[in-house]
Amino acid sequence: MERLDKIISATGKKSRREVKEMVRQGRILVNGKMAAADMKIDPQQAEILLDGVPLAYEEFTYIMLHKPAGVLSAVEDRRQKTVLDLLPPELQKRGLSPVGRLDKDTEGLLLLTNDGNLTHKLLSPKYHVDKVYYARVEGCLETSDIEAFAAGMVLGDGLVCLPAGLEILSDHEALVTLQEGKFHQVKRMLACRGKPVQYLKRLRMGPLILDEKLPCGAFRPLRTEEIEGLRTECSIDRMTKNRQ
Ligand code: URA
Repeated sequence: MERLDKIISATGKKSRREVKEMVRQGRILVNGKMAAADMKIDPQQAEILLDGVPLAYEEFTYIMLHKPAGVLSAVEDRRQKTVLDLLPPELQKRGLSPVGRLDKDTEGLLLLTNDGNLTHKLLSPKYHVDKVYYARVEGCLETSDIEAFAAGMVLGDGLVCLPAGLEILSDHEALVTLQEGKFHQVKRMLACRGKPVQYLKRLRMGPLILDEKLPCGAFRPLRTEEIEGLRTECSIDRMTKNRQ
């Protein structure tokens, strides 16, 4: 049994304050009756209607963050701001972790979830999930760089990279597609080609595309179709429940 405001805010769709306000306005029904924010219910059994629309119980929370530069992709750090610090308290308590790290100076798509199974599969090279980055580099990108990426590079320190995609957008800009995520991998691969990265932003992870309406530093819960897209990508059984 959990408090109603906690159940709803844990989805990332409404803050606890918003839930309290909706309850006050009589916009939430639980099993057909007007709700109270502090009522305790079994989220798997109760029917919760927000403005008449069912809120399905979600075991896990999935958040899309537009990561800004200057914050760590970590859950906590004693000195520096982390991506978890960008979320409200009710989401900070959900046990969310970033799915793959972005460097402190890298911006863009960061998925945060407490679904460990999905996290593992999205990151494992076995599931071939593309991660697409926009990179701006020093030096002029050339066809030979595309060929080197496609062949699978061996970096100076012996790191063997899987074949990767490089799509040149202009002399100094490219889209890089990886199916793995080794430490500083995009930067190291481009540096190895003599094209050090000046700016890096992740745009996509499998079917999940950074929402261009999401300002840098902002977050939103994933939509049902986005969660299902990720699960399908990793061959996890599709969810059958209707979701708000
Ligand atoms: N590759 C990098 O070099 N940095 C990132 O943040 C992500 C991928």
